[in-house]
Amino acid sequence: METMLMTADETTISLAADLWRKGQLVAFPTETVYGLGANALDEDAVKSIFKAKGRPQDNPLIVHIARREQMDDLCIVSPMAEKLMEAFWPGPLTLLLPKKSVIPNVVTASLPSVGMRMPSHPVARALLLKCGLPIAAPSANRSGKPSPTLAQHVWEDMEGRIPLIVNGGACQVGVESTVLDMTSNPPCILRPGGVTPEMLLTVLPQVTVAGSVLRPLHVDEPALSPGMRYKHYAPKGALTLVMGTDENVLPLMKKKYGEAIAKGKTACLLAFDDCLPALAGCHTLSLGQLTHPEEMANRLFDLLRRMDQENIDVIYSQVVPAQGVGLAIMNRLGRAAAFHTLDANEMEKESP
Ligand code: TXA
Ligand code: MG
Repeated sequence: METMLMTADETTISLAADLWRKGQLVAFPTETVYGLGANALDEDAVKSIFKAKGRPQDNPLIVHIARREQMDDLCIVSPMAEKLMEAFWPGPLTLLLPKKSVIPNVVTASLPSVGMRMPSHPVARALLLKCGLPIAAPSANRSGKPSPTLAQHVWEDMEGRIPLIVNGGACQVGVESTVLDMTSNPPCILRPGGVTPEMLLTVLPQVTVAGSVLRPLHVDEPALSPGMRYKHYAPKGALTLVMGTDENVLPLMKKKYGEAIAKGKTACLLAFDDCLPALAGCHTLSLGQLTHPEEMANRLFDLLRRMDQENIDVIYSQVVPAQGVGLAIMNRLGRAAAFHTLDANEMEKESP
């Protein structure tokens, strides 16, 4: 199949809406990451999403809408969900709500709840309004790769597999939406994202965070969200997160870099702008400013893809506190590193 990569203008939006009506797949930008969309009410179209991504059938999809009125046909909206929609939609928040029977089981992997999201990206909104259908869309990457934050990333993964990629430039948030389970009491964050726990607590009296957000699932632990079971975002090289104060972290990263190079490996250090001078002489890439973790969120997936393109064997990265959007960053980074960490402060204590 030939894949078209088209700038998001009127013509492209009409074409995309037509393709969706005909049961075809279209990749499109959202404020979080690019999505791979199909008509959520068309079982065959939804099945082709799983095929194009190489995604396991038991991992449910999020349904995207542009208008509040679309909700009542698709799911049951509680008063609390209503408040959250008012506060955070359109935006990077997915609500898990009891589904109605029009939604085919293939969308939710036969779960009784459906993930609903109203994206804020102007191109996503224009597409959803033009077509009028609810659109099921996972991130537009091949399963196991980092989510795409540029049309170029989608091209790398989907060229030849789908008819159209709508190019809307770089995604602003850079990590996927917050997934909030509204069927549990209190509501539970299954996946942290752009809408932070702190923000949710301005509307909800209480919210919990699934235990496995910052650690691997235990062997017998049930995955609340099937997506948690799968290995995610892992670069080919070995990624290690280095915790501790800068005065300990930076010399340790430099030392580890030297050891890798001495063994004939390719290596890269991911560090904040202020720290780059201390790592002079090493191959480094910037995580942006430590004081603006949104910058790290925005570039994280692109950096992980670059590690593969440059065939980097060994990667060390600085970390951020797991607060605000930092929780989403540490969730994605932790998974990418298979939770391999070094505590530079501890190692400093141990060294003679
Ligand atoms: O920002 C986003 O959410 C992007 C854009 C395209 O909207 N979409 C996205 O979709 O990240 P996906 O499929 O890559 O991730 C959806 C996550 C998966 O981990 C899935 O298991 C979980 O949400 N999920 C979806 N529906 C669910 C449900 N009914 N119950 C539990 N988990 C669900
Ligand atoms: Mg995904």
